[in-house]
Amino acid sequence: MTSKLLLSILLIITLPITSTSMMMSSARLAGQRVVVTGAGRGIGRALALICSREGANVAILSRTQSELEETASLAASNSKDDDCPSMSLHVADVTNVSEVEDTIATILKKWGGIDILINNAGTSQKPKGTLETLSAYDLRTLLDLNVVGVHIVTSAVLRQSMLPTKNGKIINIGSRAGKVGYPSNSHYCASKFALEGMTAALAEELRDKGIQVNSYAPGLVNTRSFPKPEGRKGVRSAESIEDGFFTVLEGGVTGHYLHADELDEAREKGLEDSAALKPIGEAIFSP
Ligand SMILES: *[C@@H]1O[C@H](CO)[C@@H](O)[C@H](O)[C@H]1NC(C)=O
Repeated sequence: MTSKLLLSILLIITLPITSTSMMMSSARLAGQRVVVTGAGRGIGRALALICSREGANVAILSRTQSELEETASLAASNSKDDDCPSMSLHVADVTNVSEVEDTIATILKKWGGIDILINNAGTSQKPKGTLETLSAYDLRTLLDLNVVGVHIVTSAVLRQSMLPTKNGKIINIGSRAGKVGYPSNSHYCASKFALEGMTAALAEELRDKGIQVNSYAPGLVNTRSFPKPEGRKGVRSAESIEDGFFTVLEGGVTGHYLHADELDEAREKGLEDSAALKPIGEAIFSP
């Protein structure tokens, strides 16, 4: 009897505390205004859903309206309460300057600012093969989406919002293919090395302007653009990329790179999550 009473007293005392801390952790991005490109599926969709669940206003961009609607309805069904802001849907091609400029202007009219930009839109190399078998036309098309598209969206967001407000975080979705040369993937590697270079240079340009730019490689995520065989070593779900995303977002660094697998390795070694964040730029040779 007394132990039961004690238990109920304990429950009464602890319940409000746990629900408060749950509310706090469920609103990690409360009030933040986030733009995600390529959010109609895969990694972009997963990141948009994570941000939405954490209380952010999320604007999602894709070329395909039906995929945007799917992402938005997933967000609505995932949300824990009715206070979760609904997503803002924008059909746009990130390689089209006027479409992107108009889209960003529309978002700013609605929100008045953008705090976080996630440049995720991109695709894999098709077909794969040794360089001399590939077409120059295909390389141009891939660079247009994976690199020029990032330039176009970032440029619009910087000029229209982040530079005037001196505030913002930009995360470019990278890949180990931006660090390592993979045979039969020279086009994809070229695009992802280019993205790392752009990220590093932009980080220097923005160092004193209150804007952080980093790249995040989410690892071997099973998506439609990059289908991975089930059970293959290292293959992870789109949902498992969350910790890496927040490590980059909240790391307080700029011009850095994080790979999701390296975050796992850091944790296995008992290191802080931030130990997995590395500067993109290589140290200069100094004998
Ligand atoms: C860019 O988008 C605009 C507006 O949707 C369209 O009129 C134009 O044809 C597009 N340009 C290209 C090169 O696709």
